[in-house]
Amino acid sequence: MKVTVVGAGAVGASCAEYIAIKNFASEVVLLDIKEDYAEGKAMDLMQTASLNGFDTKITGSTNDYSKTANSDIAVITSGIPRKPGMTREELIGINAGIVKEVSSNLIKHSPDVTIIVVSNPMDTMTYLVHKTTNLPKNKIIGMGGALDSARFKYRLAEALDAPASDVDGMVIGGHSDTGMVPLTRLATRNSVLASEFLSEDRLNQVAEDTKVGGATLTKMLGTSAWYAPGAAVSGLVQAIACDQQKMFPCSALLEGEYGLSDLCIGVPVILGKNGIEKIVEIDLSDAEKNKLKESSEGVKKTNGLLEI
Ligand code: NAI
Repeated sequence: MKVTVVGAGAVGASCAEYIAIKNFASEVVLLDIKEDYAEGKAMDLMQTASLNGFDTKITGSTNDYSKTANSDIAVITSGIPRKPGMTREELIGINAGIVKEVSSNLIKHSPDVTIIVVSNPMDTMTYLVHKTTNLPKNKIIGMGGALDSARFKYRLAEALDAPASDVDGMVIGGHSDTGMVPLTRLATRNSVLASEFLSEDRLNQVAEDTKVGGATLTKMLGTSAWYAPGAAVSGLVQAIACDQQKMFPCSALLEGEYGLSDLCIGVPVILGKNGIEKIVEIDLSDAEKNKLKESSEGVKKTNGLLEI
């Protein structure tokens, strides 16, 4: 199992580290445009192998895609992150060109690769990869919902004063401050609905805190977060690499599912060796359907800014 991570910055390196620590991939190639940067990150990470007890071989490459040849999975984290006060949508101008070029280079050397798009605005970047490559739709996956759901569970655990392992919940919709749809109605604490423990107001607060989860951290850190994003990507990579048939909300190309088409947006999918094995259509309440529809309009507006 060979995994390439393009962009050896904060999220790319964190993702490579979690993949290595989980010890399921034989090789991780980190690639960056900055001279020696990926090589340096790879060497630093390899020096943790004996400490953390993993056998994954991590190598670095300065923009030499021949080193990525025959990758099974590639993660695209290259591009600029947002600074405090910025929206993800504002990154489109620079990141669209980078994502288009990177995906084309990856496919030249790994025609059967499964691509996980992380660069923002992620739903639009995922759509761009669909529009500009010939990869089948199951092999192009956007990562956003897995992170947003982890942030939702963090906020739920906080509100419930419970350990994170006790709570479950999912965020669907677009990966943006206004587009996320945290499914508070379905959130649980050890299979009991969270609404049994929390008032509607408190649950709404959990949802609002979740939606601005990224912006909150960007303000605190001066740039966007990386530990939870890296861990979320590594979960997706592992589900595909190990054919786990695991369910995550991911940005997938919709063709009528949830009444939506011609866009990528976060919905529950099953991940396995073929990438997206299945899009799972769950029964949403009318309010949730409306929120998802509104969210899809926001994503489509951003897609409209693409010059394809
Ligand atoms: P960063 O600035 O730390 O790293 C980005 C790296 O990409 C840099 O090392 C840069 O040299 C490299 N790069 C730029 N152009 C390149 C090219 N053409 N080829 C190869 N490498 C190139 O940024 P960070 O924090 O790692 O974020 C990366 C992206 O991920 C941003 O767009 C950010 O908004 C997004 N992000 C998405 C999340 C999600 O849930 N989908 C969560 C967190 C970040």
